[in-house]
Amino acid sequence: MGGSLLKGWRESGVVDRAIVVDPALPSLPGTTVVASLAEVAGDLPKTILLAVKPQMLDAVLPGLKERLPADALVISIAAGKTLAYFADRLGASAAVVRTMPNTPAAIGRGITVCCAGAKVDEAGRATTDSLLSAVGEVTWTADESLMHAVTAVSGSGPAYVFLLIEALQAAAEAAGLPADLAARLARETVTGSGELARLSPDAPAKLRADVTSPGGTTAAALAVLMADDGLPALMKRAVAAATARSEELAKG
Ligand SMILES: NC(=O)c1ccc[n+]([C@@H]2O[C@H](COP(=O)([O-])OP(=O)(O)OC[C@H]3O[C@@H](n4cnc5c(N)ncnc54)[C@H](OP(=O)(O)O)[C@@H]3O)[C@@H](O)[C@H]2O)c1
Repeated sequence: MGGSLLKGWRESGVVDRAIVVDPALPSLPGTTVVASLAEVAGDLPKTILLAVKPQMLDAVLPGLKERLPADALVISIAAGKTLAYFADRLGASAAVVRTMPNTPAAIGRGITVCCAGAKVDEAGRATTDSLLSAVGEVTWTADESLMHAVTAVSGSGPAYVFLLIEALQAAAEAAGLPADLAARLARETVTGSGELARLSPDAPAKLRADVTSPGGTTAAALAVLMADDGLPALMKRAVAAATARSEELAKG
C-alpha cells in the first residue's frame, strides 16, 4: 500500500523528495531507500507515513519516538491501529492522523478516510489532504469508531471487486466461453460498469433496474443474485467479518 501511495505521489509530483525505510527493498529508482531509521542522517522529515503491517508497528515505533521532530506529522495507514495506540507509543503531544486508503491509489483512483488526532492542526490536515488527494478522493471523519467499517468497505473492498471479476470469468468459462474471451468480458464489464456508475447521476439501483427487462435474461440472473442468501446477504457477512477482524487488530 505504501508503494501504491509513493507511485501516485511521484506521478502527480506532489512529493519531490522521499526517504523510504524498508529492510528488504534494495532500491527504488529516483528515491532514497534505507534499511532502517538509523541510516537516516540528521533530523527526520516533518511528514512521516507509517505503512508497515499493523503487527510490525510495536517494533518500529520506539525507534521513531526517539527521533520524532517536535512539529512532525505522522500519517498511519495501518488497519485497526487507533489514535490512542499511537499516543501511547509516540507520546500524547505527537500529531497523528489515522487513515485508511486503498490500492487504486496507485492509479490516482483511491479513496481515503482520515481521522485526526487531537494534536493535528489545520496545517496537518492540509498536508494530509494534499498527499492523499494526489492519489484519489479524501474524506474525514471525527468518529474514529467508524474506521473499522471503513477498513472493511473501502480498504479491503478492492479485493471484493477483483473476486467479482474472477467469479464472472469462471462463470463465463463454465457457460462455454473460451478463457481469453471470458477474461476480457469479465474485466471490461466490471470496470466499465463501475465507471458508468461513477459518472452517472443515477444511483446504482436505478442503473441496475434500467438494464433489467421484466422476464428477461438479466432478471433471471438477478433472481439468483438477489435471493435471500444471495450477493447482498453475502456482502453484509463479508463486511461484518472484515469489521470484526479490524476490531480484533485494534485490541492487540
Ligand atoms: N493492502 C491494502 O489494500 C491496504 C489498504 C489500506 C491500508 N493498508 C495498510 O497498509 C499497511 C501495509 O499493508 P500492505 O498490504 O501494503 O503490506 P505489505 O505489502 O507487507 O507492506 C508492508 C511493507 O513494510 C515493510 N516493512 C516490514 N518491516 C519493516 C520495518 N521494520 N521497517 C520498515 N518497513 C518494514 C515491508 O517490507 P518487506 O516486504 O521487505 O518485508 C513492506 O514493504 C498495513 O498496515 C495495512 O493495514 C493496506
